[in-house]
Amino acid sequence: MARPAPAFLTPQVLQSVQHGVMQLIERFGEKELERVLHAVAIITGDAPEPQLDPMQRPGMLYIPGLPERRWTDADTYPETRQVADILREAWPKMREEYLAFMAAQGRLQSYVPPEQAERYLQAGMTRFDDWSGLFMNRDGRKYEEHYEAMPETARTLERLAPYLMVQHESFFSVFRPGTVLKPHCDATNAKLSVHLGVIIPEKCGIKVGGIERRWVEGETYYFDETFEHEAWNLDTTPRVCFLSDIWHPELTQVERIALSALIETATSQGNLAA
Ligand SMILES: [Fe+2]
Repeated sequence: MARPAPAFLTPQVLQSVQHGVMQLIERFGEKELERVLHAVAIITGDAPEPQLDPMQRPGMLYIPGLPERRWTDADTYPETRQVADILREAWPKMREEYLAFMAAQGRLQSYVPPEQAERYLQAGMTRFDDWSGLFMNRDGRKYEEHYEAMPETARTLERLAPYLMVQHESFFSVFRPGTVLKPHCDATNAKLSVHLGVIIPEKCGIKVGGIERRWVEGETYYFDETFEHEAWNLDTTPRVCFLSDIWHPELTQVERIALSALIETATSQGNLAA
């Protein structure tokens, strides 16, 4: 029996995506795009829902054939190793820049957009303003004023550019004391979420698919956000991590080009903002 189409898949989005798929097939051929085409077919209901670990519940885009792994270590892939080396070298200056920004009365922005505060609260995710950010990139927007105010952080993102996912969200993520982000799953396994520990009080942690870790300042962590995850700061001072999104290292360059085109097509219709 056909499944109901997901809410974001309006007829307009579907038409644009189908058009984009045809163009990609012409350019690269079906063989190179096999996993991407399969992923689209799952969304449209033309391929069956994959049988996944009950803790893995992709909200939007599931790429078949990628490893079903909660946490990925920096040494697992050359790409994660390179990202880890760049961030490890940069983090003392990034931390200085964050502290200088805050000391100069810099303002953080709530992670939860005001118009979505009620939805987050209802879903029991987090209270408005508990989780805030100093954004460098979000929803396809580059925060030029923050790039100018934090040149070392900006330079670090330029060095990371070959690995960053299309429409990556890169920001200093701040949990004020008492913040609890409840268990949830995010959109896609096409990326790994990267966390760099910046300022980490004692009573903080994160659990992904039941496996708990505690951030260490200057260390990086990589996980698949389609696995259920939760995080908390039960200490008395803010917790700061730098977050970003990199392509899953097992995606080919052709797959990355194809996914970029499809995600940009779909988001330009205003329905797919992560
Ligand atoms: Fe999340």
